[in-house]
Amino acid sequence: MQELRIHGVSKRYGHFTALEPTDLTVAAGEFVTLLGPSGSGKTTLLSLIAGLAEPDSGRILLDGVDVSGLPAHRRGLGMVFQNYALFPHMTVAENVAFGLQTRRLAAAEVQDKVQRALTMVRLEALAHRVPKELSGGQQQRVALARALAYQPAIVLMDEPLGALDRNLREEMKFEIARLHRELGTSVVYVTHDQEEALVLSDRICLMNRARVEQIDPPETLYFRPQTRFAAEFLGESNLLDCTVSRTPNQPLAQITVTSLGLNLQHDAPAANGPALLMLRPESIEIETPLHPAPADALRLQGVLMERIFLGPMTRLLVRIGSSELKILKRTTSMHELRGLELGTPVDIWLDPERCHILKA
Ligand SMILES: Nc1ncnc2c1ncn2[C@@H]1O[C@H](COP(=O)(O)OP(=O)(O)OP(=O)(O)O)[C@@H](O)[C@H]1O
Ligand SMILES: [Mg+2]
Repeated sequence: MQELRIHGVSKRYGHFTALEPTDLTVAAGEFVTLLGPSGSGKTTLLSLIAGLAEPDSGRILLDGVDVSGLPAHRRGLGMVFQNYALFPHMTVAENVAFGLQTRRLAAAEVQDKVQRALTMVRLEALAHRVPKELSGGQQQRVALARALAYQPAIVLMDEPLGALDRNLREEMKFEIARLHRELGTSVVYVTHDQEEALVLSDRICLMNRARVEQIDPPETLYFRPQTRFAAEFLGESNLLDCTVSRTPNQPLAQITVTSLGLNLQHDAPAANGPALLMLRPESIEIETPLHPAPADALRLQGVLMERIFLGPMTRLLVRIGSSELKILKRTTSMHELRGLELGTPVDIWLDPERCHILKA
């Protein structure tokens, strides 16, 4: 495990900026995911760390040592890419051994490391097959074993599950999480799949338009996004225009959401003036005679516009004033849906603590 520090690293292609000057620290043993839309600069940043592209500015430090001038193969990093790039004519064991042989290790040592890497990814039994005799997931495991074989201090992965079907992706996601837990390697992982990022990461580095939008643990990014982009990119949200007004010496701010006809007290640090109020769909509750709202809840009445049953959850769209709120209601029995008829009034309630205020 090593600590990775990136200071002011940037990249341009001609007049086009692929990465604005960027700072990022990955602690020893940490799993950091670069998440963001296509073209936001994820692969660019990873390539700069790997030494596959040269930065226009900035420095890259591994455990305090500046490696900015070192070629890729001298940085001691393991790499896994989307197309596993296995050698088709070599067996699984030979593919894994390839990177080790170029390191001039003794044959017995190579064999031992190959064996251990294949055990890690549970492929011992298939060591003598060639890639075309393997499933996509197995091929991706070989690529992982190859990257892990020489015990790199940091592993870089660029959409390693992108080419796999949904079930395999699911399985490999947990495999990668397990390997990270067992090996304690630092990982920088690129994906545009938010679920993958949530499951795997210690911290998510959300990228947008060639820069870091926000970097935080998954829960913080999900419940405390700092920008509209972050709130909308990760999960679903209701974002409502609001006004913050503070009275000097009052701990709580007054939040007014005109479109809902709603006023609430909130300990948001936001400054006076326009802001956004975010409510996750699962944070809004439906009031029924069986499930009355708590006494201190904020209550609102709306009209049910849409109802989609998803099994464990039901998605509702409720019009309140001039806004429409998305609500995700846990469904535990059929009678909970009784009375939720389209076009009829619905009572909803909110816990002010579940509201998040961010800058407009
Ligand atoms: N060699 C290059 N020459 C010119 N432009 C490039 C080059 N490599 C990347 N870019 C541009 O830089 C921007 C960032 O690209 P990058 O590959 O980092 O995006 P990404 O976030 O990895 O996207 P994706 O999710 O689609 O893989 C894109 O607009 C891309 O077209
Ligand atoms: Mg990419």
